[in-house]
Amino acid sequence: MKTKSGLGRRAALLIGISAFAVQSYASEPTEVPQQPEFPAQGKITYVPRDSILEFKALPEYKEPAWVTENFVKTGKLPSVAERLPKEPMVFKTGNAPDGVGVYGDTMRHVIGGRPEGWNYSAGQTQGWGGIDIGMSECLTRTAPLFQIEAKDMEPLPNLAKSWSWSDDGKVLTMKLVKGAKWSDGDPFDSEDIMFYWEDNVLDSNVTPLNAASPETFGTGTTLKAIDKYTIEWTFKESFPRQHLYAMAYGTFCPGPAHILKTKHPKYNKDMTYEQYKNGWPADFMNMPVMGAWAPVAYRPDDIIVLRRNPYYWKVDEAGNQLPYLNELHYKLSTWADRDVQTIAGSADFSNLEQPENFVESLKRAAEETAPARLAFGPRVIGYNLYLNFSGNGWGEPDARGQAIRELNRNLDFRKAVTMALDRKALGESLVKGPFTAIYPGGLSSATSFYDRASTVYYPFDVEGAKALLEKLGLKDTDGNGFVNFPADKGGKDVEIVMLGNSDYTTDKSLAEGVIGQMEKLGIRVVLNSLDGKQFDASRYSGRYDWMVMRNEAERASVVQDTPELAATGPRTSDHHRAPEGGQLDLMPFEQELVDTVNTFIASSDDAERANLMKQYQKVVTANLDTIGLTEYPGALIINKRFANIPVGAPIFMFNWAEDTIIRERVFVPQDKQADFELFEETLPGKPGVGEGPAS
Ligand code: GLA
Repeated sequence: MKTKSGLGRRAALLIGISAFAVQSYASEPTEVPQQPEFPAQGKITYVPRDSILEFKALPEYKEPAWVTENFVKTGKLPSVAERLPKEPMVFKTGNAPDGVGVYGDTMRHVIGGRPEGWNYSAGQTQGWGGIDIGMSECLTRTAPLFQIEAKDMEPLPNLAKSWSWSDDGKVLTMKLVKGAKWSDGDPFDSEDIMFYWEDNVLDSNVTPLNAASPETFGTGTTLKAIDKYTIEWTFKESFPRQHLYAMAYGTFCPGPAHILKTKHPKYNKDMTYEQYKNGWPADFMNMPVMGAWAPVAYRPDDIIVLRRNPYYWKVDEAGNQLPYLNELHYKLSTWADRDVQTIAGSADFSNLEQPENFVESLKRAAEETAPARLAFGPRVIGYNLYLNFSGNGWGEPDARGQAIRELNRNLDFRKAVTMALDRKALGESLVKGPFTAIYPGGLSSATSFYDRASTVYYPFDVEGAKALLEKLGLKDTDGNGFVNFPADKGGKDVEIVMLGNSDYTTDKSLAEGVIGQMEKLGIRVVLNSLDGKQFDASRYSGRYDWMVMRNEAERASVVQDTPELAATGPRTSDHHRAPEGGQLDLMPFEQELVDTVNTFIASSDDAERANLMKQYQKVVTANLDTIGLTEYPGALIINKRFANIPVGAPIFMFNWAEDTIIRERVFVPQDKQADFELFEETLPGKPGVGEGPAS
C-alpha cells in the first residue's frame, strides 16, 4: 500500500519537474556526461558472507610470549583462555589474504585532526583517521562488506553475534557475544548497550559522535534488554533489515558504561552534561575499549600511542588472540602530511584522497624502491555544495542569513548556482588527468545504486544562470559587480557565508573555486574556513548559509547511514534540520525524498530498492537538493611490509579503509618486522592512571 502510493506521488512530481524545465528559458537539463575511464586497480574477489568469521570455542588459545611471561605468570592477568569469551569471534583463515599471522610491530598513522577527549558517546572526536575505529566495536560491522556477493548482502555480526526476526518482522532479537570484557577486564553486557541507547542516543542533552539520533534507527523504534546477553529491538515497520547497517560504525558503538556512568548527570547528580561530555580528556590514559587497541600515551600536537587490548575477544583459527600488531601510532600532523609520510616510508597508512597529492604520490610509488604500495579504487570521493534549507530558524540566522535561506529554497536560484559552476575547471584545479569527473550531486557514481540515466545535470551556462537571477529580481543595481536584493527587500548585495573545512587542502581549493565562479555570476561568497572540530560544530548546529563538504557514507554506499539521505528525522540531514524544539519545514520535493528513503529502508525487495534509488536520484538532481562539485577516485597507500591487506579494498565505501582492511587481522611477517614500538612489552594500565604499562 505504502509503496504504491509513494511511487505514484513520485511519478507525478517528476512529470511536474520536466514540465517546468521545458518552460524555463535557461539551458535544458540533460544527462550527465560519461566519466573519463579510470580503471580501479586490484580486482576484488567476491566471497559469501559466512566465509569471513564465526563464533566458536577453539581447543587452545595463544598470545604473545611476553604477555604470558610478564603478565600471566606474574599474576597480573588471568590466562588468555580466561580473558577470552567461551566462544570468541574467529576469523577464518581462508578469507585472510596471507593466512594466519605472527605477533609484533606497529602501524604508524598520521592524522590532521586533534583529540577532544575519549567520550565518543557524548560526541567527542578523537581526531579521526581511524583512531576511534581501532578503539570502538559496534553491534554489527559493515566495512568488510565490499567483498561480499550482492545476493548475500547483510552486515556482519560483531558485538551482536547473531540475531533473529519475529514472524511479523517487527521484533529483532540480538544475542550479544557472551563473556567478552572491556580492556580493563570489566564485563561487557547489555548494560553497556542500554546505557548507550537510553542515556546517550535517546537523551536529547547528548549527541554521540557521528550524530546518532533516535531516527537513525527508525522513528518509533524501541530497544530493551531481555537479559545480560540478549537485547530486543521493536520497529514500526516489518523486517527493516536496513537498520542493521545503522548498528555498525559509527552510530552504534557503545562506550564503557561502568566508566561513563560515573559522570553522567542521570547517575551522578553533581555532574552537568558539559562535565559528562568532557569527563575523559585526551590526557586521560587507558580509556577502556572493546577495540583491539587502547590509548596509553598522548603528547599534544605530537603523538597518540595505543597498545594491544589484552582482553580483545577475537582470535584467528589457530587460536592466536588478536590483534597481531602490538602498537598503533597516531602522529598529530596534517592530512596532507599523511600522504607525504606514507609515500616516504616514515608512516604506514594513508587514504590518498586529496588530488593535489596524486601526481607526486604516483611517481614515487611507481619506483621499485618505493616503501609503500598504492592502489587506486573507484571514484568514491565526492564533494557537494550544501545550501541550508531551513527557513524556520535552524542555526538562528539573522535577517541577512534568513534572506539567503529563502533564496536557497528557490529552485531557480539553485539552478542559477549549479549552472554557474564550471565543474571541469573545478576538477582540473585539483589535478589534471583522468581523475576528476563532473558530478551533478546526489548519489556517488561508485555505488551499485547509481544510475546515470536517472541523474539530471544542468550544464555549465553562466548566461542562462544570470537570466535566472534576473527573473528572481536579483540585479546589480549599484554597479559593484555583485547582484543586489530588490529594493523592497532592502536592496543590499546578496552576500553568502560559506562554511568550509580548513583541515583539508582540497576543501580549501574547492571553496576558493566556488567563490571565483560565483563572482562571475555576480554573487558574493565569503568563506568561513574552520578546523575540523569547529566545522562540525557549525554544521551540526546549522550556522551557515552554504557549506562545502566531502561526501559521507550515505552517498558512497546508500545502505550505510541511509536515513541521512534525506531529512527523515529532525536531525538526520546535513543541510536541513529542525530548530531547537521546532519542526522541519520541508519543501514538497524534500517530502518526496523522505518518503522514498523511508520506503527504501522498509523494503527488502532488491528490484524495488534499486528503483527507489533511481527515483531518489532523479528528484535529488532535478531539484538540486545538493549541488555536486567534483568526484574522483582515492588510493590506498600502505607500507609494503604489511600482510593480510585485502586486494581492491576501497578507501571509502561502507566505512573508511582503516576498518575495511580489518586491522586486527593485519600483520607483519617476521623477516619484515621493524623496530617502531615505543612501549615494548607493555599493556594498557588502569583507566586514568598515568601513562603506558600496567606494571
Ligand atoms: C578522516 C580522513 C579519512 C579517514 C577518516 C577515518 O576523515 O580524511 O581519510 O581516515 O578520517 O575516520
